[in-house]
Amino acid sequence: MTGNSVASHYASSGIAGRLVAALRAEIGPEAAITPDALAPLDHFHGRGVLATRELLAVLAPLPADHVLDIGCGIGGPARWIAAKTGCRVTGIDLTPDFVEAATALTEATGMAGRVRCLQGSALDLPFAESTFDRAYSQNVVMNIADKKRFYAEAFRVLKPGGLLALSNGAAGSGDPYFPVPWAATAATSFLSTVDDTRRDVEAAGFAIERFHDVTDDIRAQVAAQRRRAEAEGLPRLGLHVLMGDRMRTYLANSQRSIEDGRVRMVEVLARKPA
Ligand SMILES: C[S@@+](CC[C@H](N)C(=O)[O-])C[C@H]1O[C@@H](n2cnc3c(N)ncnc32)[C@H](O)[C@@H]1O
Repeated sequence: MTGNSVASHYASSGIAGRLVAALRAEIGPEAAITPDALAPLDHFHGRGVLATRELLAVLAPLPADHVLDIGCGIGGPARWIAAKTGCRVTGIDLTPDFVEAATALTEATGMAGRVRCLQGSALDLPFAESTFDRAYSQNVVMNIADKKRFYAEAFRVLKPGGLLALSNGAAGSGDPYFPVPWAATAATSFLSTVDDTRRDVEAAGFAIERFHDVTDDIRAQVAAQRRRAEAEGLPRLGLHVLMGDRMRTYLANSQRSIEDGRVRMVEVLARKPA
């Protein structure tokens, strides 16, 4: 039931066509559709590709690695990371419309040989144990009630010695100002505290290599982003092309939630012991 509600929050038809049309209007009909060109549109994070850049620096995949993206959305981070590093990325996401868009956009960027996105649940990953060298998940666990199962599944499919990088929101003081980008109401928002996040990751068997609450580092940047959007409106290319006009309110609410300490942002690097 929750899974259906999560998928219907993100669902919309014709995503790939809409994004490519918006991008073409900006860069011209002949310009190449690349992961960098798509980046303002396909990284589903309030801080966009900047957040993926930080995640990549933490995970640092090698060109020979097979990497899992848990909750890959429309595949922006997967394509971008594969393009920057040469690694292979397999993504999995619950929302069928997102996986359809991910597949079309991956084809459009010519990256189908190295990036593949599948529909499925993070709580029941359709992979054998010890399949992946590294894994990451960006802004997904906020939709997951069963955190223990989420981390246990990531642990199972990683090879011994494999790394998991997480970048996501956590509970601060008070509820977020709903609606937010990951949930219209509290019914599909499941924020753990920063301390519980650490505890759950360790309980799955991981050894924490890095655990950073980045909220204080990014607060000024988030506030500046919100003020700019209030003064100038959103840029032509942004997540509102993916999610529709409701995204303007969602983004402003999540920015205010971070500024007021109701949502905290954490970055984690954890290793499955060898
Ligand atoms: C805020 S979006 C982030 C997408 C992507 N990680 C990115 O950074 O662009 C959250 C994503 O998590 C996915 N998701 C939520 N619950 C999931 C689950 N149980 N299994 C797989 N994906 C899930 C949603 O479908 C959605 O695509």
